[in-house]
Amino acid sequence: MYQYQLHQQISLLILEHKIDVAGKDNLFYSRFLANSSEIAELYFSLYGRHPKATEAFTALLQTITKAYAERCESLKLKDEEKEELGNWFLTNQLAGMSLYVDRFCGDLNTLSSKLDYFKKLGVNFLHLMPLFESPTGESDGGYAVSNFRKVDSRFGNLEDLQAVQQNMSNEGMYLMIDIVLNHTSFRHEWAEKAKQGDKKYQDYFYMFDDRGLPNWYEETMPEIFPEVAPGSFSYVPECNKWVMSVFHNYQWDLNYSNPDVFVMMLDTIFFYANLGVDVLRIDAPAFIWKKLGTSCQNLPEAHTLLRLIKQCVQVAAPGMALLGEAIVAPKEIMKYFGTDRFFAKECDFAYNATQMALQWDALATGDTRVMLAAQNEILQKPYGCSWITYTRCHDDIGLGYDDSMIAAAGFNAYEHRRFLKEYYSGALPNSPASGALFSVNPKTQDARISGSLASLCGLEKALRKNDLEAIETSIQKISMMQAQSFFIGGLPIIFYGDEMGYTNDYSYLKDPGKSYDNRWMHRPIIDWNREENIDHQETVESKVFHATKRMIEIRKSMMVFGDYKNLTWLTPYNIHVAGFIRSYDDQKVYCLFNYNNAASYITWYAFKNNGNKSNKLYDHWSGREYTIGSDHEYLILPPYSFCILEVID
Ligand code: GLC
Repeated sequence: MYQYQLHQQISLLILEHKIDVAGKDNLFYSRFLANSSEIAELYFSLYGRHPKATEAFTALLQTITKAYAERCESLKLKDEEKEELGNWFLTNQLAGMSLYVDRFCGDLNTLSSKLDYFKKLGVNFLHLMPLFESPTGESDGGYAVSNFRKVDSRFGNLEDLQAVQQNMSNEGMYLMIDIVLNHTSFRHEWAEKAKQGDKKYQDYFYMFDDRGLPNWYEETMPEIFPEVAPGSFSYVPECNKWVMSVFHNYQWDLNYSNPDVFVMMLDTIFFYANLGVDVLRIDAPAFIWKKLGTSCQNLPEAHTLLRLIKQCVQVAAPGMALLGEAIVAPKEIMKYFGTDRFFAKECDFAYNATQMALQWDALATGDTRVMLAAQNEILQKPYGCSWITYTRCHDDIGLGYDDSMIAAAGFNAYEHRRFLKEYYSGALPNSPASGALFSVNPKTQDARISGSLASLCGLEKALRKNDLEAIETSIQKISMMQAQSFFIGGLPIIFYGDEMGYTNDYSYLKDPGKSYDNRWMHRPIIDWNREENIDHQETVESKVFHATKRMIEIRKSMMVFGDYKNLTWLTPYNIHVAGFIRSYDDQKVYCLFNYNNAASYITWYAFKNNGNKSNKLYDHWSGREYTIGSDHEYLILPPYSFCILEVID
């Protein structure tokens, strides 16, 4: 609905910021007007009853206008180029890596000198793990931010970050960083002021005089780190109050029911946007709204906040896509793409955490049926949005998919998860994996899994025993796991170190600021002396690196791997094999992954049903050509192998 007063308000701001509505800024003005009613509606649905609602809304409009006014011309040009491409991030031309700058190469300046390394691998998109100031030892890997605008001195400074962004942009690379929206460090200026008794800043957090309400909240709030940070509240001796701290006690939850908090954080979002960030990873969005008597996760208001952010970003920095890091139940993840009127209008990306975990499930059991049972849900992703696909990231692997998916495969959910935990933590005597349980909940026995891609695939144990056959098998597993995440659709992000087969790094145990958190075992410190092994064919580094590189090449060589269309899963003729068809225009590709420790047989009939009439297939991975045989003959897949079969006739 057209709102005259809103229009007037925007026009005044435009004048104030000397925006050229009739000329070069016309598109911005149109976007602002077009989105303003939606922005107002979303905002007032959350804050309408707050005494400061109107005042903070004016500040919000100011923030948007200022963000655009301060956005540099080259970024505005890039915005336009991206807009012309449509959903620029759906392309098969992107391949990503996520890394900790200090553990990868030391600091931001050195990172610029590593761009050739990424080029050699084919990576052109970087997720730089949190870079902003965070107290040593109480940092949660940078996810406890004490200053959202100051780069932590161990990485360099803001100018260094800008230089990296510029160098990357010159090389045609894309940048992703985090906004830690849900909480600040307890050393953030707002937290410090709150500790000193400043009421204004106490209202930025959830602070209580006694345990009354905290106890009530905790009745329904699941614990995130039950071992090291039980409960969801921490005592603050400086002001004799209790504060909500869902993650660690040093991470205080921001109170988004206060519109000032929202506006301040929106301003930070634009600060990052104007640094030239291409994708903003919104950390832990599932947690940003709290309500007594609920789990305080995935609440409808959290979605409203994200939609509001999306609308505002679209006005002032439309080239920046949003990734919602919601690692929650499959049904809940889907909602971060938006629902109903906001379908495909919330986050542009979400992590395909369900698929990731299910690949680990299939690798342990050799059975792909649970993976298949989840696909109905995953395939609901709207066109125009995309997945981040991955096998490992800096976090643990959660087994949070539905019990019903496990039951559909004929397993008992409790026993099945117990098996997976024992398999990956090494508790099972014959398991090749070396990982560990993370965040075991003593009350429920729930636990997640830590460990690097290579170690969980068996490389660590195989190397220790110098078992050449087991080394080869684990490399096969690494490649197959990566391949499925590269070809399934979405933007693949490799976790640094995995491209060279890094096994667990146990040095974290010597650092008291890290030893309590075993996720550090899969966050290695890179030893650049090992880089030269990449050029020696017989080494693990070389085998894994070149396999990864080839996967990226194959992905980039075929439009069919852009995320323009959902895929079709193959009728499962063999429970050990996951298979899907991707198509684009005339191109059609069958991707098959054998999770079996023995050869698997697939009837050629699998390539004939659903009206498919193909005769010849070319495997982009092995370089072999196949003629489709008769129904009683088989395509034979060696243990832990995969193939990317393009229909060529
Ligand atoms: C996200 C991060 C994780 C962190 C948590 C709290 O889930 O990925 O590493 O511990 O948020 O910020």
